[in-house]
Amino acid sequence: MNAAGMFSESWLARREQADHDARAAVPLQAASDWLAARRGHAPWQLLDLGSGSGANVRYLAPRLPGPQHWHLVDHDDSLLGHAVGRCQPLRDNAGMPIHVTTHQRDLHALEASWFADIDLVTASALCDLVSATWVETLADACATHRTAILITLSVDGNIRFQADDVVVNDAEDAWLFETLAAHQRRDKGLGPALGTTAPQALIQAFTTRGFHIADAESPWHLTPAQRPLALSLIDGWAAAAREQAPHDRQRIERWWQRRREALDRGHLDLYVGHRDLFAAPEPAHASR
Ligand SMILES: C[S@@+](CC[C@H](N)C(=O)[O-])C[C@H]1O[C@@H](n2cnc3c(N)ncnc32)[C@H](O)[C@@H]1O
Repeated sequence: MNAAGMFSESWLARREQADHDARAAVPLQAASDWLAARRGHAPWQLLDLGSGSGANVRYLAPRLPGPQHWHLVDHDDSLLGHAVGRCQPLRDNAGMPIHVTTHQRDLHALEASWFADIDLVTASALCDLVSATWVETLADACATHRTAILITLSVDGNIRFQADDVVVNDAEDAWLFETLAAHQRRDKGLGPALGTTAPQALIQAFTTRGFHIADAESPWHLTPAQRPLALSLIDGWAAAAREQAPHDRQRIERWWQRRREALDRGHLDLYVGHRDLFAAPEPAHASR
C-alpha cells in the first residue's frame, strides 16, 4: 500500500497464488450451498467489495454455481480496468460465462442501497483495513437485505518463522510483529483499522445479528519456493515498523537483515495467519 492508500497491480499479482492456495474449504462450500439453495433468484447477484484487479472473482467464479452477475467495487479505476479484462472471460462451475460490471466507488460511503437484490457479498484481503464502525455498517446492510457474506484472508496476527516445521520466533520477532500490528491499526482511509482484530470483530458483528457463521483458518505457508513474496513481506513489514517506531531504525534494520538473509538462503518458511468467514442470515436450506 503506498502513501496515497493505493495498492499496486504488481503487489496484488505477487500474492494471488498464495491467496488462492490458502483459501479455507468450509466457508467456500457454505457460500456455494447458500447460492445453490436460492434457485428462484438466478442469475445470482454477487457484490465484491475492494475488488482490486479481481483476484477474488478469479478464485470464486469457477467454484460457485451460476449464472453469476458480479458487481466489482473499488476506488481505484486502474485496478478495476485490469479486473474487468481478466474476469470477463471466466466461467462458473457449470462452464457458463459470467457477467461482470465495475463501480468506481469509495467504500467510505458504504450504502445499504448497494446491497439491494444482492445474493452474496464477497471481499478478500480487505477487512483488516476497515474500522469497527465500518464492519457494523456492513453487517447492518447485510441484515437489512438478508444477504450472505464471504469475507476471506483477513489477517489474524499469527506470524511464524519456521525451520524444519519448528517455530523459531524470538524476542525481536515478537517486538517487530507488535510494532507491525500497531501500524496495521492506523487509519487506511476507512477509519481506525481493525488490523489483526478483524476476524473477531466480523464474527461478533454477524453473530449479534443472528447470522449463521462458518469460520476457518486460511494461512499462507510460504516455503523457499515462494521466496519473492516472503521477501516482499519482510521489506513491507520493516517499512511499516520504521514509520511506526522511527527512533528504532537500527533495531529494525538488524531484524530485517537477519530474517531477510535467512529467507533468501532458503533456511526458513514463513507462516502468515489469516481467517475466512461465511455468514448467512439463515441456514442454506432455508434461503430459497
Ligand atoms: C489488499 S487489496 C485486495 C484486493 C483484492 N480483493 C484481492 O484480494 O486481491 C485492498 C483493495 O481495497 C481497495 N480499497 C481500499 N480502500 C478503499 C476505499 N476507501 N474505497 C474503495 N476501495 C478501497 C484497494 O484499492 C484495493 O484494491
